[in-house]
Amino acid sequence: MQYSQKVLDHFMKPHNVGKIENPDGLATEGSPACGDQVSIFLKVNPDTQVIEDIKFQSYGCASNIATASIITDMAKGKTIDEARQISWKAAADALDGLPPVKMHCSVLAVDTLRKAIRDYEVKHQLANAEEFSKDTIIEELKKVIYPQVGEDIVTLKMVKYAGFEDGVAIIDLEIPKFDKYRDNVAEEIREHLEHYPEIKDIKITM
Ligand code: FES
Repeated sequence: MQYSQKVLDHFMKPHNVGKIENPDGLATEGSPACGDQVSIFLKVNPDTQVIEDIKFQSYGCASNIATASIITDMAKGKTIDEARQISWKAAADALDGLPPVKMHCSVLAVDTLRKAIRDYEVKHQLANAEEFSKDTIIEELKKVIYPQVGEDIVTLKMVKYAGFEDGVAIIDLEIPKFDKYRDNVAEEIREHLEHYPEIKDIKITM
């Protein structure tokens, strides 16, 4: 597998590795695809909402470590709203590209940063803990990246319908039969949704 020099640099000497004692925001996420884990710790200025310090710990692979390294660099000094906008694409561009097969590894790092920000907001009464709804499903679908273009399936308008009825997540996709990523996309959707206790069944039609 071909990694860019930037990915290798961040993997060999990752920035912001470690832990923050008594963090203001914290998230630990595991990848459903590989089982690896990453944690992100935040120190946030309560007056300005600026991320003053950020650290990560990862048990993931080179793509995951390099992405966590670059997004923690990008997030430091930004407000929580700005940091939440850091996308998988922006991280991949800043690393001069990531191999598509390793997409889930870098998405995991980006998701963990967003969850740590969310944790800060909930703990500081800036947001309510979310109730499960159809919107939760759509938010999860926005994390499913279509490998060929590196954008999520919602942005790419591949989701014709997403709903939630009686514990069943119903997703209708627009992906041609001959598309070689068809099964991967469906599998990734399942991996993103199946850990929600509210979801008893997942129905994907294409
Ligand atoms: Fe697990 Fe990359 S293979 S994070």
